[in-house]
Amino acid sequence: MTATPGPKGSLLLGNLREFSQDMLGFFTRSARDYGDVVRLRLADRTAFLVNHPAHIETVLVRQHERFIKHRFFWSRVRALFGQGLVASEGAYWRQQRLLMQSSFNREHLARYTQIMVAEAEATLARWRDGELRDLHEEFTRLTLHIALRVFFSAEPTQRTLGLARAFTAAAEEIILRLRMPMPLPDWVPTAGNRRYLDAVRQLEAAVYAIIAERRRSPDVRRFKTERSDLLGALLAARDEAGRPLSDRQLRDEAITMLLAGHETTALALVWTWYLLARDPGAAQVLEAEARGVLGGRPAGAADLDALPYTRAVVQEGLRLYPPAYTIGREARAEVRLDGHSIPKGATVFMSPWVMHRDPRYYEEPEAFRPERWLGDAPAGLPRFAYFPFGGGARVCIGNTFALSELVLVMATIARQGRIYLTSDRAIAPRPLITLRPAEPINARFILRGSG
Ligand code: HEM
Repeated sequence: MTATPGPKGSLLLGNLREFSQDMLGFFTRSARDYGDVVRLRLADRTAFLVNHPAHIETVLVRQHERFIKHRFFWSRVRALFGQGLVASEGAYWRQQRLLMQSSFNREHLARYTQIMVAEAEATLARWRDGELRDLHEEFTRLTLHIALRVFFSAEPTQRTLGLARAFTAAAEEIILRLRMPMPLPDWVPTAGNRRYLDAVRQLEAAVYAIIAERRRSPDVRRFKTERSDLLGALLAARDEAGRPLSDRQLRDEAITMLLAGHETTALALVWTWYLLARDPGAAQVLEAEARGVLGGRPAGAADLDALPYTRAVVQEGLRLYPPAYTIGREARAEVRLDGHSIPKGATVFMSPWVMHRDPRYYEEPEAFRPERWLGDAPAGLPRFAYFPFGGGARVCIGNTFALSELVLVMATIARQGRIYLTSDRAIAPRPLITLRPAEPINARFILRGSG
């Protein structure tokens, strides 16, 4: 058995300070200095950073039944996600996953693409030529509109649009909790806990309002059958005893889908446009493809396979700025990884941010090169050298949905113009729950023919 190496930390907190102050830098340095399996200590928790595709496959696929979602994170966010699909485990998770899976099948996806394109076109119609916009705000609004309409058939209102702000407030507090060796329970009325619970209550109120509206709707029958969206599937579900989901269960799944379903996709759009704005050559190729395929008409599901460069741009954006920059698990039993022992109870981190920039798998890993995803080259990559959506049983349920949304939104914008940043300055990523930009990304949209 190999003694697993790792960075020295302080006596009491171990590596917690570096971990919480600069997770991306800390993980990157740890991988470079200590290799494929690195031992860390976060206050009283033993953790490992795993930096090899084969080991990641062991954790997520081959021996996934030996792991659960790691308590280091999930115990700190119960009030927000409850038993929603991202957080639940075991038989309950399996049942809920099966229930929701049908809302993501091919037939549904084709219908969703119409909403994605209509919302992207509506966003462009709002943008005046040359007007200054914050990309994060714009794309959050767009993806939230899409999620509301697709999953809940809900028209966006002021209250639901406030969801994004409430989520940001909750995320800020959650990240502070991760820095604490032993966060106080939610019921202790600290200023931070109050801010967190206020944000959770706002999210909850918005989601309960959507559910109540649907229940009141004279269309409720029709929704369940003809238009069956995700909320319809949840409302129609019955357990073996014929009981429907409780309000709390509905709330947990609805909040999870709304947050998981819009925030990551918005960030993928933000970072991909940021990269493109700094690479006019790539932007030109993207535009030529979008114009060549779409001409003057809106995109549709049938175009998805005809936009390979757009897809490559999206994949490369997700490589360099993976919105889910770290995935964590907790070992339920001892696991061996190439001579290293991961003891029961230890946390395992796998970082798309680190793997996606590993020079063993990517030539010039820091460079934005969409071409690396064209032709046969990607087939030579080990499966878990690239995993923006995770993998195995708990792979992102919205994986195909998100890729379709990203390609269609990119093509819709590129067909009609270009996004220019107002500054050449590099924007640092800020790892909250997802990988956000550390500051607003101000940009102008210039319509084709006028700029
Ligand atoms: C670019 C966009 C997205 C990225 C990068 C992303 C990333 C991920 C990752 C890495 C996981 C696995 C986490 C883990 O194993 O611990 C995950 C799970 C999940 N994602 Fe996504 N996601 C995206 C879009 C979406 C969308 C659009 C939806 C909803 C429609 C969604 C819903 C979920 C849910 C519910 C889970 C939990 C699945 C389970 O545990 O069974 N995600 N996502």
